[in-house]
Amino acid sequence: MNRDRNSIVLIGAMGSGKSTLGRVLAEKLNYKFLDTDAELVKRTGVSISTIFEIEGEQGFRGRETKLLEDLNGARACVIGTGGGIVLLERNRELLKKLGLVIFLEASEDVLYDRLKNCKDRPLIQAEDRRMVIRGILKERQSLYEDVADIIIKTGMGSVRSMVNKVMKSLKKTKCR
Ligand code: S3P
Repeated sequence: MNRDRNSIVLIGAMGSGKSTLGRVLAEKLNYKFLDTDAELVKRTGVSISTIFEIEGEQGFRGRETKLLEDLNGARACVIGTGGGIVLLERNRELLKKLGLVIFLEASEDVLYDRLKNCKDRPLIQAEDRRMVIRGILKERQSLYEDVADIIIKTGMGSVRSMVNKVMKSLKKTKCR
């Protein structure tokens, strides 16, 4: 099967570097970069925090599903996704259909360091952020692994070196 220029989907916890890495990767591949959170902000005209406030997490997840359905068939895109997009089975199915899925795996320590002062991610606004991150990883790790075609450990080295690591994996992956 010729899957040339199929989209690439980045999954992983908040703070794992999906948007930063995704942008550089897209540039390198000459693909378009899309971010599901940014698309939802564009569609609704309000912030992710406001969507959570008004519609709750369930409403937000529903919006993620609708967006993934709309993106079905998108070619030559690098798609960065919200960290919790894998929670719904329907979303996991849609992610797999969208293209090659890369799980950016970062440790609790790396995530904590990147998220400890973050103000705009509603799920992390807690007294004990480390515990929240630990819980999120515990809940989602197997879901990320289940959807992923490729797993890349992130957190060490520069964005460039991470992108090079991804590029090497893509070359090794038969379906690219
Ligand atoms: C979420 C991650 C966020 C955003 C929302 C919920 C999550 O995206 O979708 O705040 O459930 O982990 P990032 O992973 O891009 O931060």
